[in-house]
Amino acid sequence: MELRKSVVFGICAVAVFGIGYAVYWDYLRQTDPEFRRKLKKSRKKAAKQKKAAVEESKSKTADFIRGAVEEVTKESFPTDVTAKEKFFMEQVAKGETLFAGGESGYHDAALCFYKALKVYPNPVELIMIYQKTIPEPVFNLVYEMMSVEVKKKQAEYFGNFPPKEMNVRIEEFSQSSTSDDYIRRVLISTKDFAPGDVIFTEQALASALDPSLENGEFCSHCLKELNGADFSDDSDLFGAVYCSKSCQEKAMAEYETLLFTTRDDDSYSNEAKLKELVKSGRVKYPLMIARFLAKMVHEETQKVATGVEEEYSTWDHIERLRFLAVQPSDKESKEITLLRELFKTKVPGMEEFISEERYLMLKGKLMYNAYGIYTEHNMGAIKENLEETMRSSQPTVIGAGFYRVASYIAHSCNPNTETRFPDNNNVLSIVATKPIKVGDELKISYIRVGDRNYSNRRSELETKWRFKCTCIKCMEEAGEVGRSA
Ligand SMILES: *[C@@H]1O[C@H](CO)[C@@H](O)[C@H](O)[C@H]1NC(C)=O
Repeated sequence: MELRKSVVFGICAVAVFGIGYAVYWDYLRQTDPEFRRKLKKSRKKAAKQKKAAVEESKSKTADFIRGAVEEVTKESFPTDVTAKEKFFMEQVAKGETLFAGGESGYHDAALCFYKALKVYPNPVELIMIYQKTIPEPVFNLVYEMMSVEVKKKQAEYFGNFPPKEMNVRIEEFSQSSTSDDYIRRVLISTKDFAPGDVIFTEQALASALDPSLENGEFCSHCLKELNGADFSDDSDLFGAVYCSKSCQEKAMAEYETLLFTTRDDDSYSNEAKLKELVKSGRVKYPLMIARFLAKMVHEETQKVATGVEEEYSTWDHIERLRFLAVQPSDKESKEITLLRELFKTKVPGMEEFISEERYLMLKGKLMYNAYGIYTEHNMGAIKENLEETMRSSQPTVIGAGFYRVASYIAHSCNPNTETRFPDNNNVLSIVATKPIKVGDELKISYIRVGDRNYSNRRSELETKWRFKCTCIKCMEEAGEVGRSA
C-alpha cells in the first residue's frame, strides 16, 4: 500500500512506483477524460475563493482526524470497478462543492477526498493530483488522515503478521537500558512441537545462487538442482537457466525481464555491467538487492493491474528487521551507481529511490538476515565468501535466501530449531530439534557449532553479526553463568 510510503519516506519515494502510475493513468484517460478537466476547473474555482485559512483549534482538528480515520476504517467500500469509479467521482464532486463553500466545509471536504483515496487503484498518484488541485488546508487535512492511518496500521503490524497458520508470533522488547536503544524482536511458538516437527515453511522474498553455480547446474530462480532440465530465454542477457517452465515464468515476470532484458546488449550496457559484477565479483547480494527492488516494482504493477492488494507490502515486511551497519566504500558506491543507472531507464523515480542510505540499509538487512541454502546432494565444498555473512550452519551452501518470518529467529549455540530445505530449493522449513512448548522462544544457530569452543564460536558471531553471544552454552563454557543479570 503505497500511500503509506509517501507518508513515511517523503516525496522521493512517492515517485518510485512509476510503472503503476503509468498503467493507471492510461486507464484513467481512456475511461474518464472528464476527470482532469474537472480537477483543473476546481483548482481555478478554489483559487478565486482563496482566503487565509482560519486558525482552527489544533486539538479539535486532531480529534476530527482521528474520528474520521476511525470511521473510514469501519466503513465498507465498493469492490467492483464500476461501483468504485462511481463512488470515487461522487466523493470528489462532493469534496469540491464543500471546499468551494468556504472554510466551514474544509473538514468534510477532506473526509470526502480521503474516502475517494480508499477506492482509487493508485493512491499515491491521487495524492500528487490532490496536492496540485485542492486548497492547501484541505490537502493538509487529507495528508494528516493518511498519516494517522499509516501509524495505526504500523502499530498493529505484529497483530496481523505473521499469519496464524505459521504457528509463531513476534514479541518486542525495548532495550532501552543499554546505550543503543533498539527494539529486540523474537519469534515465539504458539503451539507445542516435538523434535522433527515442521514449525512453519516459507517462500523466499529474494534469493540467489552462489554466482559460481550460475552455470546450468542449479535453477537460477528456486535454486533446485537442474538434473538436465534446461529452461532459458534467449532475450535474457544474464543467461539464467531454470529447472521448470514455471520457475522461468516467475523469474521473468518478477525480476528477470526488468533487470536483464534489453535491446542494448553491448558490453557497456548497464545490464551487462550488472551481470559482470555478479559473476566476476562472486557476491550474491547485488543480485539479491536488484531482484528485491525489481520485485517491489512488480508488486506495485500487479496491484494496479489486478486491484488486489496485500495488507502489507514487501517494504513493510522488511522495515522492522535488524540490519548490520554497512560502511560505505568505493565498492558500494559503484554498486549503487550501477543499480541507479540500470533502473533509471526502466522505472521512473527508481533512481531517486535507490539512495546510498537505502541501499546500505537493504544490504545490511540481507547480511544480517539471509540464510544459507543447501541441498543434500551438493556435497562439494563451496567456500563461503567472507563478504557474505549469511546465516548458515551447513558447509554445503549453494546460495542465500531472504525470508520474512525466519529472519526474526535469534541465535543460540544450543538452538531448538534448524533450517531445512525439504524440496531442495529455496523454500525454507523451520524444524524443531528439541521439544518446544507454547510460548517458547525459537532459536537457531547462525553458525556451524560442531565441537568448536565458545571463543571460536563467539569470534565468528562477532565478526559476522557483531554481537557477543551470551547463550547458555557459551556462558557455561566461559564460566560466566551467574554473573549475568
Ligand atoms: C578454542 O579452540 C581454538 C582452536 O580451534 C584454540 O586455539 C583456543 O585456544 C580455544 N580456546 C579456548 C578458550 O579453549
